[in-house]
Amino acid sequence: MCGIIGYIGNDNGVDYVLGGLKNLEYRGYDSSGICIINNSSQTNLIKQVGGIDKLVQKIKITKPNGKLIIGHTRWATHGKPSTQNAHPHFNNDRSIFIVHNGIIENYLEIKSKLTSRGYKFISETDSEVIPNLVDFYYKKVNSLSRAFRMALSDLKGTYAICLVSTIEPDKIFVSRLGSPLVIGKTKDKIFVSSDPSAITNKTKTVSFLNDFDIAEVALKKIKIFNQKGNKVSSAKFETISHNDSQNNLGDWPNYMIKEINQIPEVVELAIKGRLGANHQIKLGGLDDVSTQLEHIDRIVIVGCGTSYYAGLIGEYLIEEFANIPVEVELSSEFKYKNEPISRSTCLIAISQSGETADTIAALNKVKDFGVLKLGIVNSIGSTISRMTDAGVYCHAGNERSVASTKAFIAQVTVLSLLALRLAKTRNKSVDDLMEDLLNLPDKIRKVLDQSEQIQKLVHKYIKYKNFLFIGRKYNYPIALEGALKLKEVSYVHAEGYSAGEMKHGPIALIDKSFPTIVIATKGDLYKKTISNLLEIKSRGGPIILITNFQDQKIKNMVDDIVYVPESGEETAVQIISVALQLFAYYFSLALGKNIDKPRNLAKSVTVE
Ligand code: AGP
Ligand code: GLU
Repeated sequence: MCGIIGYIGNDNGVDYVLGGLKNLEYRGYDSSGICIINNSSQTNLIKQVGGIDKLVQKIKITKPNGKLIIGHTRWATHGKPSTQNAHPHFNNDRSIFIVHNGIIENYLEIKSKLTSRGYKFISETDSEVIPNLVDFYYKKVNSLSRAFRMALSDLKGTYAICLVSTIEPDKIFVSRLGSPLVIGKTKDKIFVSSDPSAITNKTKTVSFLNDFDIAEVALKKIKIFNQKGNKVSSAKFETISHNDSQNNLGDWPNYMIKEINQIPEVVELAIKGRLGANHQIKLGGLDDVSTQLEHIDRIVIVGCGTSYYAGLIGEYLIEEFANIPVEVELSSEFKYKNEPISRSTCLIAISQSGETADTIAALNKVKDFGVLKLGIVNSIGSTISRMTDAGVYCHAGNERSVASTKAFIAQVTVLSLLALRLAKTRNKSVDDLMEDLLNLPDKIRKVLDQSEQIQKLVHKYIKYKNFLFIGRKYNYPIALEGALKLKEVSYVHAEGYSAGEMKHGPIALIDKSFPTIVIATKGDLYKKTISNLLEIKSRGGPIILITNFQDQKIKNMVDDIVYVPESGEETAVQIISVALQLFAYYFSLALGKNIDKPRNLAKSVTVE
């Protein structure tokens, strides 16, 4: 979950590393630290609880210099956020320093083995065993390179590790297992990072490490080994495209509102070149697997959080348009299931970051099943995009706010295109959806124009501590997503439910202190959802209706209405989701919460 950055160069790299950490802050932000090794092999270790700005303040005092640096922004898994638990961690004689992302599952075992040999530990983290274990082997074999490899082969769990040492002060040793790492280079600098977007403002020439790769990174040469120590290859570099404007706020006060306002453009980009004016669907990423796609008879979609909810919408879309049965599973549960999966099944992994550990585990589970694995991923070059056989990128641009907004809408847009691509027959509803998708950006712009109205609505409801979100069919997953968004950024209790389930339990919660957001769109299910609304009203629950249907009769029955532009039910989900995102955003703003970096969360969840 954390952010890692490493630097070797000919000039002082402190500002590069701090800039990189700032770019990575959205991945973990409870504490941070850097270790600088200068020309005379002196080390300077600076750590700080809180965001990167606090680390920068601390560093400004001593103005350290160095050409070999590692830095880390932490999302604590083992031990509270504290200076001692912050990374980099080091061995007892302070000659080996590491930053680590992930979890070392057997750290207690290693710790007790090392303790019995006289090693002392000062943090509560799992990570601290790494530099001491390397030290232990170094004392035996007198080679840092071998000691690093020997230590890695003892570790169980997941990791991305960067190691620097005064023993060889011209190298960074790195390795990964289940957690991303990328090396970027220019003529006279090398960067290592857990996320390419942290270094693309410096270089777009990057090499992605694979699991079990061990790289010895020196300015003159980068060698890649496998864990047995055989040299596998020299690093293979590629040029990635990345729009760095996504990495700055411009005039926006925070990323969440910037990203919500990018949505019309994001939808345009997601359909550009894929949905022609003549209504042809072209998903180039699937060309290589088009024959296999012809033969699939079942789809399993896996994802977590918001990506899982996008999957639930995908289920309705694909079943409706392509007539292929779909099941949607939480990645974190799918991996434990023993469900039979035939070779004619297609597994679709949905992930904004492409680095979510549970979704990676779900893909690993089917690795040898011979099934077609597709990815719907936003981050180009990410682990999931490289693990799948084919896929469709969301092209939403880097999403920096922890709460996913534009990427969710792009995922649903891509799923709509996929459903149309898989559709075997062409009928009116196919044509209508294509037309709706082309008109979607402008309709979303109209919702954005209603921001002020939504903000006023939030002020009216700000005193409430609980919210229920309900909807049917396509509007059910967006009720779940609307509730998730609200709780994530404002810490207000919110639950999403299928409107049809109300009477089976949740209605017991309803009283005048428990408002419900009812999502009811024009169509067959409108009346049924309105019946649920009336049941809530009869029990005194305040009601906000979000609808695209101008129904005069309902006006006096609800407390508030938000009207959004009309469209078919499949695209109404995106239009209404933007309204719900704005609702969550203004709630968080009014409560003064840390909108982009909500407490306890991190952008990519790279541990299971
Ligand atoms: C979304 O607002 C959340 N931060 C979270 O649920 C997220 O969608 C989930 O962790 C999955 O992430 P992914 O799309 O990067 O795999
Ligand atoms: N498990 C390590 C710790 O708690 C690393 C956490 C992270 O990935 O930030 O310090």
